[in-house]
Amino acid sequence: MSGVNKNIVILISGSGSNMAAIVETARTQRWQARFGARVAAVISNKAAAQGLVWAKEQGIAAAALDHTAYDSREAFDAALMAEIDRHGPALVVLAGFMRILTPGFVQHYEGRLVNIHPSLLPAFPGLKTHQRAIEMGCRVAGASVHRVTSELDHGEILEQAVVPVLPGDTAETLSARVLTQEHLIYPRAVERLLSV
Ligand code: GAR
Repeated sequence: MSGVNKNIVILISGSGSNMAAIVETARTQRWQARFGARVAAVISNKAAAQGLVWAKEQGIAAAALDHTAYDSREAFDAALMAEIDRHGPALVVLAGFMRILTPGFVQHYEGRLVNIHPSLLPAFPGLKTHQRAIEMGCRVAGASVHRVTSELDHGEILEQAVVPVLPGDTAETLSARVLTQEHLIYPRAVERLLSV
């Protein structure tokens, strides 16, 4: 990824722990000095998202855009694009952003849009990934960082992490085990994109 001032915009809907992992890695791995990259903004579709509070405390521009205030998916995505584009992003990072995106949005950020999904894609796109992995008797589970295409939870896989599914696991215990790995692979994948 060429050029200086590589702004990263992160979209969240909830706790934002992956966002925090990326912000912290940006700091410890000196992304600004090495790649001219910084997390310029964090945007949530839910005003109550805990991650917004944390981002503000870090001095990062943090905004909420309530999707329920818009008549259509297209109208929300248009407003979201306008908010994102104020920061001229080199990368738009979906980190627990629980919205289906319109094809127009995906096209607009083609080549700059990545997501993390809590399964070993192409297995278990969609929701309730941990419960489904347990019910299927999977011995392993994990997470995938991938490029975003207009097909939900598809697109080139950039990083994956594998964890065991242990006897007695619930969706909660498995989710917690996977999340610790997400916090490692997502910053690593973003760093790799910044470094090329
Ligand atoms: C993460 O497990 C992420 O993989 C998942 O939501 C969680 C967000 O946690 N994303 C999806 O399910 C996307 N379809 P976080 O807000 O603490 O980063």
